[in-house]
Amino acid sequence: MIRAGVMGWPVEHSRSPLLHGFWLKQHGIDGAYELLPVPPESLETALRGLAAQGFAGCNLTVPHKQAALAVVDHVDATAARIGAVNTVVVRRDGTLEGRNTDAFGFRENLRAVQPAWRASTGPAVVLGAGGAARAVVAALLDDGAPEIRLVNRSRDHAAALAAALGGATIVIDWSRRSAVLGDAALLVNTTSLGMTGQPPLDLALEALPTTAIVNDIVYAPLATSLLETARRRGNPVVDGLGMLLHQARPAFAAWFGVTPEVTPALRRTVEASLVAR
Ligand code: ATR
Repeated sequence: MIRAGVMGWPVEHSRSPLLHGFWLKQHGIDGAYELLPVPPESLETALRGLAAQGFAGCNLTVPHKQAALAVVDHVDATAARIGAVNTVVVRRDGTLEGRNTDAFGFRENLRAVQPAWRASTGPAVVLGAGGAARAVVAALLDDGAPEIRLVNRSRDHAAALAAALGGATIVIDWSRRSAVLGDAALLVNTTSLGMTGQPPLDLALEALPTTAIVNDIVYAPLATSLLETARRRGNPVVDGLGMLLHQARPAFAAWFGVTPEVTPALRRTVEASLVAR
């Protein structure tokens, strides 16, 4: 039996066992995907123990994504660029490879929901400068975004991200978040604002063209007030659940040898778990 799982602290909230379990069953694979509660001080020991316990690898979530960079034996180019590992693959020789599939997840989800969308269409506005923002900006730069307006509460975080990823990234003060929406082709919220238990995202959309795609990375709730407001004024909207589902595909393929699809049935299964919470 092939084993995989997700290491986090806490990790009980993770939807990954549900979605990988769905694919294991769908493809009739003799495998298991487990919740792996690992405190920060045990990360290295836990990762080093994977191979001996029959694990093909694991996902990493809060607070391990950055720390794992220093533990794994190999870091792929995307993970190095994003500065975080969300997927660990145990190689044949027992060494550990760190990858990052979040940029893939962001891009694949946008393409699945809005097939005609191209990053090159026009400027993108990205709110936030954390780990999720790094993956989003990397994907947009790779796909030829002509300009990325990076808007963050802490200007220094945005400046560090722009310096690390380069390209046509412009740092914008948080106070100007509504003013910079004019002529944007894409708006992405990567902050935690609007998430259940967090403050609302205070953003006026008047200046945003109604043709701009609005993507919220927040998926709890699924219909955030940003997406509801955008939908009411006619903007195409993309919710945050798809990125979570799509980022899991390359990891599943690496561990279990089958590239899975994001189907309506998978989405319904994970959506139901969000509602049930
Ligand atoms: P993730 O890895 O999911 O991106 P993160 O690294 O904690 O999470 O980043 C959270 C983002 O939400 C950051 O951009 C953060 O802004 P700061 O860089 O200023 O911390 C943003 N954020 C969180 N709470 C916020 C708030 N109350 N107002 C504005 N931005 C906020």
